[in-house]
Amino acid sequence: MTDTTRRRLFVGLAATAAALAATPWLFQRRREHDHAMNPTAPEPSAGPGLPNAQPFQTPLRLPGREGLFAEVALSAPLALSARAASFPIFAGKPTEVWHYAGHANGHAVANPLLRASTGDTVEVALGNRLAEATTIHWHGLSIDEANDGSGLHPVAAGGSARYRYRIDNRAGLYWYHAHPHERTGLQLQRGLAGLLRIEDPEERALGERLGLRWGERDLPLFIADKQVDADNGIVYRIGADDWIGNRVLVNWTPEPFLEVLPALYRLRLVNGCNARMLRIAFEHEGRTLPFKLIGTDGGLLAQAWTMDDVFLAPAQRIDVLVDFGALPAAARVLLRSLEYVAMENEDESGAFAPDPMADHPGAAPMGEALDLMQFRVAACSDSERRRAQAGSGVLPAVLSALPPPPDTAAWTVRPLRLRMDQEGTWFINDWNYHQVGHAPVFSVKRGSREVWEIRNNMTSMPHPIHVHGFQFRVVSRSISPPDVRSRKVTPQGLGPQDLGLNDTVVVWPGEIVRIAIDFSQPYRGTQRYMLHCHNLEHEDMGMMVSFAVED
Ligand code: C2O
Ligand code: CU
Ligand code: CU
Repeated sequence: MTDTTRRRLFVGLAATAAALAATPWLFQRRREHDHAMNPTAPEPSAGPGLPNAQPFQTPLRLPGREGLFAEVALSAPLALSARAASFPIFAGKPTEVWHYAGHANGHAVANPLLRASTGDTVEVALGNRLAEATTIHWHGLSIDEANDGSGLHPVAAGGSARYRYRIDNRAGLYWYHAHPHERTGLQLQRGLAGLLRIEDPEERALGERLGLRWGERDLPLFIADKQVDADNGIVYRIGADDWIGNRVLVNWTPEPFLEVLPALYRLRLVNGCNARMLRIAFEHEGRTLPFKLIGTDGGLLAQAWTMDDVFLAPAQRIDVLVDFGALPAAARVLLRSLEYVAMENEDESGAFAPDPMADHPGAAPMGEALDLMQFRVAACSDSERRRAQAGSGVLPAVLSALPPPPDTAAWTVRPLRLRMDQEGTWFINDWNYHQVGHAPVFSVKRGSREVWEIRNNMTSMPHPIHVHGFQFRVVSRSISPPDVRSRKVTPQGLGPQDLGLNDTVVVWPGEIVRIAIDFSQPYRGTQRYMLHCHNLEHEDMGMMVSFAVED
């Protein structure tokens, strides 16, 4: 039975009242069900591919000069080719990874971490050496249609393209990835993604003040779960939904560890998973270690927020400060995704026959706790400890000049509704990309400002909604589920993460989220962009539309 038929069976049965009242119970039951369906499932073992019973044996890969995750300044044009090659990732056999390969400073690089500054004009050529179309989409950037790299401009197998654009975004950690029509989920699961770090004077000033060196105590953590088989192959099935995996890669290292000083660290986390939402926390001996949230998708917040945990949906980024300074030598801190209520209400009628986890042997179900990596506090002499701690300055009360969310009382409101129909097809209003195609479903006047009111059906699941070409502000959340409500810090229902610039926002079942977008841009003519769910399986199943910006 296909997922669509599975959904068709259950959606009809789903009772809103039950979903409203009994989500935690339903979630519990789903896990029991998974277990009952598979009573002889082997315990996780350290065998190739299968979940790692002895995690935290591999040192975390840091941005280096060559290979996967090498750091490359975009100060000169860069040529990348999309191709497949094997890399030693897990113990045993190498793993085929689809990646963007290039050369920089005499070294071969793969999925490089790119670096540029606001105002730079950058140039990246793409040669496609895969057997299918691909693209490079510059996620989070203010960019014109021709350079956006969406599925509107596929680069055919054997073909090439050139992206050349000026960086108008403020400092932040952005990313790039393949975006071919209907195959984004496959290509990202196989590996076609990398990070783009943008700097600007404001960010440099904060960096100097904090005294945390990039690459040493200021580190990117690019997190992606993969479904891996016994031969260390990355598995994907086109047409399946919510592709979650049994292994966790951080910077392309499986379940890594990092030795840290007993001092302050700045970590920039990216959720590069196809579908898995993470509830990020740092844990020491079973207790959460609070951290400070200082930035979101589009860069620094105006002020830091102390938090115990934060939701990080696919495509979202957070910038956090974690202080290991009070911990004893040899302390172990886990970076984990804590358990949460997954609210997959659309298929929680309970009666489904096939095991939804059948494609994902060994994977933690959505919402179940998951260890991502480990920090090991190094043994230091008292003087070393003092030196490490003295190096980092005090966090200023004002981190950046980000203004508060705008007063949108007079702005046009565009309603958008997320839902699934009786056939199990996802929709944004009445639009599904497979039915509507490339034609824009609405257009927005360049230079205008709009509020998009995104409402998610109760019989739905959390959708990380992403807009191409524009960073936006979240202005309100209403009818939020308890896990979200409990995080609110403003009368408008917003949590700390909502207070930054964002390009991806989670809309939970039943919720109404309003975002404010300023459609000013320096380009001319019609520019088409995507609006879609960044659960890549939803995107590929058509939970996406294109919209136009025009004069
Ligand atoms: Cu991260 Cu439409 O993309
Ligand atoms: Cu994007
Ligand atoms: Cu979705």
